[in-house]
Amino acid sequence: MIRLLKIQSLFLLIQLGLSQAHFSLKSHYHKVSFNKKPISTSKQHETLFTHEGIDYTHAPVAFLHGINSNCQELEGYVDTVVEQMNHTIYTQCIEIGQGKFSTIFMDLNSQVQLACFGLKEDPVFSTQPFNLIGYSQGGLIARATVETCDGLKVRNLITFGGPHGGVSEAVKCADTDIPCKIWDLISKPFVYFDLIQELVAPAEYFRVFNEISEYIKKSVFLPRINNELKQKNQAYKDRLTALEHFRMFMWTDDMVVYPKQSAWFGVLNETGGIVNLQDQQQYQEDWLGLKTLGESNRTSFIEIPGNHMHQTDDIIQKYVVPLLIQ
Ligand SMILES: *[C@@H]1O[C@H](CO)[C@@H](O)[C@H](O)[C@H]1NC(C)=O
Ligand SMILES: *[C@@H]1O[C@H](CO)[C@@H](O)[C@H](O)[C@H]1NC(C)=O
Ligand SMILES: *[C@@H]1O[C@H](CO)[C@@H](O)[C@H](O)[C@H]1NC(C)=O
Repeated sequence: MIRLLKIQSLFLLIQLGLSQAHFSLKSHYHKVSFNKKPISTSKQHETLFTHEGIDYTHAPVAFLHGINSNCQELEGYVDTVVEQMNHTIYTQCIEIGQGKFSTIFMDLNSQVQLACFGLKEDPVFSTQPFNLIGYSQGGLIARATVETCDGLKVRNLITFGGPHGGVSEAVKCADTDIPCKIWDLISKPFVYFDLIQELVAPAEYFRVFNEISEYIKKSVFLPRINNELKQKNQAYKDRLTALEHFRMFMWTDDMVVYPKQSAWFGVLNETGGIVNLQDQQQYQEDWLGLKTLGESNRTSFIEIPGNHMHQTDDIIQKYVVPLLIQ
């Protein structure tokens, strides 16, 4: 019975996805700047760049939001960063397609491409080295953008709860937790259906831990972007290792990304136990350059309290500002 219900809801989801896919793929990115004109710039530093008559002393910051969210919902998070930087930075949130809907029903490869276009068409990000902050699925998109988008100069990459190691079994979902519901719905045996892979973004980083060969064969996003395929892409590694720093935040009580260690590239082994990055072939053979980055002190793994998307001023003050003022 439950299974039947699941199948029914799945078809509903596919219909919804198909009717929207056409619409959202034609659409583009747009930028959301929240009219945050800086009210001051620090005099302790030299001017880095000037934009619209304002001298900026710190590198600009681009933001990417998570699944089932949009730039408007990220505004509070952007505000916190801007305030902690004393309103001296240039920021933009890059919105992909139709906001919330596109985060779920647009193929992630297209989402990454649109993020790349959006950043390249910005007058500041296209000419200045900048910092990139991604939340949740936006963290994964941010990393994939660094790897694949030629011609951008990203200094520091900062991700909050980004499912870098994929997501596995869905945990208990709150009624309002749409992404969690979707993960639950498309969990085996549907997740690697071609149609689902094309239409449901989270399916593209779903990693069924006891079917890794299926995942490698069928998943259209994560295995490639993680350089897990036989054919490694040297350019992904080169671009990622060009970062000054890659800081990954994991929430202690993350109820959305499972396993939560995915935020640090943790994955599950075939019996469902956690395998940390350093114990993976990924790291040991340096497929993505994470070992190279790690050995030169350019990665950091930071655990922060709370559930998915929980953030406080002191976290930003302590762990984000130091990277942004460099
Ligand atoms: C913001 O201003 C406070 C108070 O003047 C100062 O202590 C702090 O270092 C400033 N932060 C930045 C990022 O400039
Ligand atoms: C999987 O991980 C668990 C927990 O770390 C460990 O006890 C177990 O031996 C691992 N299983 C395999 C097959 O590697
Ligand atoms: C990395 O950091 C550690 C501890 O702070 C330090 O001992 C080491 O020299 C650093 N390595 C490099 C390559 O900077």
